[in-house]
Amino acid sequence: MSINFSEEASGEIITTTASLPEDYSEGSLRPRTISEYIGQEKAKGNLEVFINAAKMRNEPLDHVLLHGPPGLGKTTLAAVIANEMGVNMRITSGPAIEKPGDLVAMLTNLNQGDILFVDEIHRLNRAYEEILYPAMEDYAIDIILGKGPSANSLHLDLPHFTLIGATTRSGQLTAPLRDRFGVTLRLELYTPEELRRIVMRSAGILGVAIEQDGAFEIASRSRGTPRIANRLLRRVRDFAQVRADGVITREVADLALSSLEVDKLGLDAIDRRMLRSIIDYYGGGPVGLDTLAATINEEAVTLEDVYEPYLLQKGFLTRTPRGRCVTRKAYEHLGIDYVGQQQMEL
Ligand code: ADE
Repeated sequence: MSINFSEEASGEIITTTASLPEDYSEGSLRPRTISEYIGQEKAKGNLEVFINAAKMRNEPLDHVLLHGPPGLGKTTLAAVIANEMGVNMRITSGPAIEKPGDLVAMLTNLNQGDILFVDEIHRLNRAYEEILYPAMEDYAIDIILGKGPSANSLHLDLPHFTLIGATTRSGQLTAPLRDRFGVTLRLELYTPEELRRIVMRSAGILGVAIEQDGAFEIASRSRGTPRIANRLLRRVRDFAQVRADGVITREVADLALSSLEVDKLGLDAIDRRMLRSIIDYYGGGPVGLDTLAATINEEAVTLEDVYEPYLLQKGFLTRTPRGRCVTRKAYEHLGIDYVGQQQMEL
C-alpha cells in the first residue's frame, strides 16, 4: 500500500538535515576550537583527554570514528580536532572513492600527523576497505602492479596519520574496520538550551540582533540539529527585517517559523506524515519500518537515520520488537483523540 500525500508540500523541506546550497555560509559559523564548540559534552570531554595525551607523547591521535544522526557537526568536530592537534585535514567521503587508486593517492599524499577525514565511511566500497586495514594498523600499503604471473607487489610506507571516519550508520561498518578505530564517539541530538547558545553565537557572527527568547524559539524548533538552527536563524532574520524592526524576538521567530510551516516542536511534513500514517493505517502501531516506509513513499534508511532520532527523543515514537508505535504524547501533539486507539507503549 502506498498513499499519496499530495496535500503536503512537496518542495525542499526547510528542516531537512541534509546540507542545502543555502547552507554555504555555514563555514563561517563553525567553531574552530573545542572551547568554542557548544554541546556534545561527553564526546568533547573524552576528546580533550585523548588530544592532550597524544600531544604530550608527541604522537598522532589514534583513529577516531564519529557516529550519529546527520547535521550534528561531525565534519566540524573533525576540523576542530585537526586544529587542536595543529595538523592539516584532507576530506573525502566513502562514495567519492570510486577506485582503489583514489584512496591510495589520498593516503600517499598525507604528511606526518595529518588527518584523513572520510565522511559516510559506511558507503566505502568493501573491496577498497581492505586497503585501509594495513594503512590504519601498520601505516603501510601493499600495491599490486600488473596482472598475472608478471604481477609485482610494491610495499609503501605511509606517514603516521589519523583517520577520522564519520557515519550515520555504525552498524553497517564491517567488524574489521570498526575494530581498527581506537576511539569511537557518538554524537547526540542537541538540547534546546545548547541550540539556543549556538543560535546566539551564530547571530553574533552574522551581526543579527536577537533576544534570548527569540533564540530559544528557533532552538526548540530545530530538531536538535545545529545545521537546521543556523538555517532557520537566517530565514527568521528575513522576517525580522521585513515584518518587524530587525530584532528577532520570540514573537517574530514564532511568526516566521509558523509561516515556514515548522511546527512548535520543529516537526516537518514527513514527521507528521509518519506519525499520522501509523495512527490512521496501523491503529497507532506496532508497524514494521519497511511497511511504514512503503506506506509513505520514503526510504526506510531515511526514516531510521533522519526522522526517527528526533521523534524518539521527543517521546513521540517508541521502538518495540514488533515495530514502531506512536505514543499518547504524539496523539496530543497532532490533536488526535487518543481514546479507543489500540496502543502498545513499552
Ligand atoms: N555551529 C554549528 N555547530 C556548532 C557547535 N556545536 N558549537 C558552536 N557553533 C556551532
